[in-house]
Amino acid sequence: MKAWSGRVEKPTDEFVERFTSSLPFDWRLFRVDITGSVAHARMLGATGIIPKNDAGAIEKGLLAIRDEIESGRFEFDTSDEDIHMAIERALTDAIGPAGGKLHTARSRNDQVALDLRMYLKGEIVACAELVVALQETLIGVASDNVDAVMPGYTHLQRAQPVLFAHHLLAYVQMLARDFVRLLQCHSAADVMPLGSAALAGTEFPIDREMIAEELGFERISENSMDSVADRDFVVDFLAAASTIMVHLSRLCEEIVIFGSTEFGFVTLDDAYATGSSIMPQKKNPDVAELVRGKAGRVFGDLTGTLAMLKGLPLAYNRDLQEDKEALFDALDTVRDCLVAVAGMVGTMTVNSEVTEAAAGGFSAATDLADFLVEKGLPFREAHEVIGKIVLHCEKTGEALDALGAEEFASFHPAFAEGVPPLGARDVIARRTSAGGTAPERVAEQLKAAAARLASAKEWIDERG
Ligand code: ARG
Repeated sequence: MKAWSGRVEKPTDEFVERFTSSLPFDWRLFRVDITGSVAHARMLGATGIIPKNDAGAIEKGLLAIRDEIESGRFEFDTSDEDIHMAIERALTDAIGPAGGKLHTARSRNDQVALDLRMYLKGEIVACAELVVALQETLIGVASDNVDAVMPGYTHLQRAQPVLFAHHLLAYVQMLARDFVRLLQCHSAADVMPLGSAALAGTEFPIDREMIAEELGFERISENSMDSVADRDFVVDFLAAASTIMVHLSRLCEEIVIFGSTEFGFVTLDDAYATGSSIMPQKKNPDVAELVRGKAGRVFGDLTGTLAMLKGLPLAYNRDLQEDKEALFDALDTVRDCLVAVAGMVGTMTVNSEVTEAAAGGFSAATDLADFLVEKGLPFREAHEVIGKIVLHCEKTGEALDALGAEEFASFHPAFAEGVPPLGARDVIARRTSAGGTAPERVAEQLKAAAARLASAKEWIDERG
């Protein structure tokens, strides 16, 4: 018997039943669905909309169903259209006609919006926790290698030397912004839609504030039509998830490059690498590559959802059921990728002799130009002079820091008074501007990052 069996004369076509069912994927909403229904039943009892003893029986029945699903004893029936119908049917089977009173003053349209908001709020906290954990890992690796020096790149050409820690802390910054975005997503989801009913509200004297308070919602929605049609909170999360994936993918791309034999900057732990089925010498960065690849899926979840929403008239339309697989896929993917990257980065070896050797060469050229600027030359002229010195070195095969003082002086008389030290560490030590790579600036960054993490954890603990 379908919930709408009174209205139709024929059973639903078998294919249509399968085609329209969301049970294969929305079953994972069962916990929030039951928590939401318990709050609704209590409110119906408290307001006298249904008898108190019916409300009590409903609550007991729902909690028993939750245990059954949790323990795997619950029998899902494919003819149940979705998790909401499955639970309601089981409730009526268990407690009789009182079960049929649960859906008073409610529609699946506001019910599913409530479930999705509750579920997403919980998942966002879990995601935020993983974002914090990855930041902690990066800060740990940065601290363990706080003396390591590497080339900084632009256009993937060696540009200027930087501390390895400075490079990693750039990713900590990205993740700190991701955390803030997750906070905003949590707040966007923190609106209680139940009581909007099908689309127009209800004639029953419901108490929406009571439900919001019981379920820990910050506020209630203000327009019943918007409440059942709105999936902005899903889009907000998918956009934040996409940005997280951009960051993870960029980090993974670097690990692929820096782990190659050509670079040799980092070595992945055997537990985080895979071999080749044909080439015995290979150890592949598959984890990094998969994270990079999975970024595309999450972008697809976002664009797919935006496209699904753009043509919908108010209020509820069944298209909205398509929000779930995209959201669940993005949630699972982002969580797995955050775990994978933290594990991979936390166990890799940083080959600091290799990175330091690569950081020399011409990377002090800017410093030589800056030296002439301090002597009074306009920067553009100084750039020209140093360009000629570099060209000379290119032709003779000499290293920049191997040139003698007289040779420098032959390019510009200001060098007669001396040449600044040109080692990678000297260059790094001079980058003392706020946010620069000088060791004391990086130490400040490490401290600030740790302080930020402490307050991030407080936010999580308050909701965990
Ligand atoms: N399974 C549906 C969904 O996910 C629940 C809402 C169904 N509402 C309806 N009027 N058919 O959107």
